[in-house]
Amino acid sequence: ALQLKGRDFLGLSDYSPEEIRYLLDLAIELKRKRKAGEVYQPLLGKTLGMIFEKSSTRTRVSFEVGMFQLGGHALFLSKNDIQMGRGETISDTAQTMSRYLDGIIIRTFGHRNVVDLARGATIPVINALSDQSHPCQALADYQTVLEMKGRLEGLKIAYIGDGNNMTHSLMMGAAKLGMHFASASPEGYDPSAEVVKQSREVAAQTGGRVDVVRDPREAVEGADIVYTDVWASMGFEEEQKEREKAFKSYQVNEQLVAKAKSDYLFMHCLPAHRGEEVSEGVIDGKHSVIFDEAENRLHAQKAIMAAIM
Ligand code: CP
Ligand code: NVA
Repeated sequence: ALQLKGRDFLGLSDYSPEEIRYLLDLAIELKRKRKAGEVYQPLLGKTLGMIFEKSSTRTRVSFEVGMFQLGGHALFLSKNDIQMGRGETISDTAQTMSRYLDGIIIRTFGHRNVVDLARGATIPVINALSDQSHPCQALADYQTVLEMKGRLEGLKIAYIGDGNNMTHSLMMGAAKLGMHFASASPEGYDPSAEVVKQSREVAAQTGGRVDVVRDPREAVEGADIVYTDVWASMGFEEEQKEREKAFKSYQVNEQLVAKAKSDYLFMHCLPAHRGEEVSEGVIDGKHSVIFDEAENRLHAQKAIMAAIM
């Protein structure tokens, strides 16, 4: 049987293909329950702390709403308003919070902070985005693909643009799920070599495949899914201008998606910059499933919380 109670959710690499599939099925089931108006409150009386060091629309709202729907309560803790912002250590914060709460999510810069919080805490910790990864988004995205395509194994997902936190989580997720992942980034913006290596090791076990190329057309060729993200992630705003130059030929537009399958899905974690990483026609066109992805953050995170808390 699967042992998920009490576990942290820091990255998809810590979860087996079977565990990820279980979470995807649970997310779909919790979505069905919600749409049918069934009340399901396994976390009655439990409280989630939500530490944010960066902005958020989707993550903050979907975790707070999700916790409420599961019968619990969520606390928004802006890093600057808690003592951590004045230098209280992550370890002391983790140990203190563990005396009140039943789970913590954290959105931060350095991934080390996520790991340290999890190490210091005696309650489950969820990674709500670090500079290294965004596993909650990737889980919601693969739920979306599963719902739209009816399967995951064997599908090709092309990721175009900055080799960032999204790239890493989508790559690892695709490898775990037996998919073909192909990313294309400009020189200097490739995904982490370590994550590529780990993902390839996983893919070798699952029948998946991970390609990292330079040419966006090569990545998109025959793809079932075309995914992109902003060129300058949170924390990299001051590089916006130089990045616009570097990424100029990496826009996902009509010409590029013509290389994908005729029934391709366009995906983006949001927030998006129309006219930069994606053309208006593509992101607002009929292949785009961006708001289904956003909705599934709620269902996928409810699945994570119900499983581990
Ligand atoms: N996709 C995502 O995590 O969005 P927010 O930054 O709005 O939470
Ligand atoms: N890569 C983006 C994702 C935002 C949800 C960032 O880190 O800003």
